[in-house]
Amino acid sequence: MSALYDTIGLNYASGRRTDPRIAKEIHAHLGRAKTVLNVGAGSGSYEPTHLKITAVEPSLELIRQRPASDVIVVQAHAEDLPFQGNTFDVALAILIVHHWSNAQKGLSEMRRVTRGKIIIFTFDPLATDFWLSDYLPELGTLDQKQMLSIADFETVLGPVDRINVPIPHDCIDGLLCAYWCRPAAYLEPDVRRSMSSFSKISNVTEGLQRLEDDIQTGEWARKYSRFLDQDSYDFGYHLVVTRDANQCR
Ligand SMILES: C[S@@+](CC[C@H](N)C(=O)[O-])C[C@H]1O[C@@H](n2cnc3c(N)ncnc32)[C@H](O)[C@@H]1O
Repeated sequence: MSALYDTIGLNYASGRRTDPRIAKEIHAHLGRAKTVLNVGAGSGSYEPTHLKITAVEPSLELIRQRPASDVIVVQAHAEDLPFQGNTFDVALAILIVHHWSNAQKGLSEMRRVTRGKIIIFTFDPLATDFWLSDYLPELGTLDQKQMLSIADFETVLGPVDRINVPIPHDCIDGLLCAYWCRPAAYLEPDVRRSMSSFSKISNVTEGLQRLEDDIQTGEWARKYSRFLDQDSYDFGYHLVVTRDANQCR
């Protein structure tokens, strides 16, 4: 089984760490769950370590980067989960739905194997004013192509709640908007390597050169002063949580 992250994920575990503020938002919805399925688990970020976790991940490279633990790790895809129906109390999908080849199949597989809530952390490209798209317009159009709407989720999962998750100014999970008030970070190849969007767009050189020039001349700080002095900012990241009650044994 070959996977995109076998190539782009070589530094994943160091670039993409659990941010405790985001983890708190996700874990608030676990209820009384004892068994948790983490689909597209990467190197294990956001797993509630006090619960019994099963992690599904297609990339052997990311599985290799997991810290040692008693988590059961299965190499598989969301669209074909190798579990019987109603196996888990809760399922998580953290920043992965935009990677699925068939989102409807991935969601219905998660619904099939989960007794209780499904908790998805994702991104709304229509609710963001992330300044990096001014330098790299392909980023905006890419997200509009690959992200799902609330209606897409509800078609498969039934009624869901949307909970916005602002990104802290010092976010330690290097997701795309993590460095929103640290613009020079985007000039670092190692930082960009942890962001899958950069592997899906072309022509970054000219846009990054403009960004570097704007940082040096002070133009970036003038243009984007609304982002400065904020503790956190809402860039459209949100949780999608199914409304069904937890049916935990
Ligand atoms: C941005 S990473 C997120 C990883 C992890 N959830 C985290 O928060 O760090 C996206 C993950 O989705 C996985 N992935 C891609 N396609 C997938 C699929 N069809 N089924 C399950 N996981 C998939 C990738 O291998 C990668 O681990």
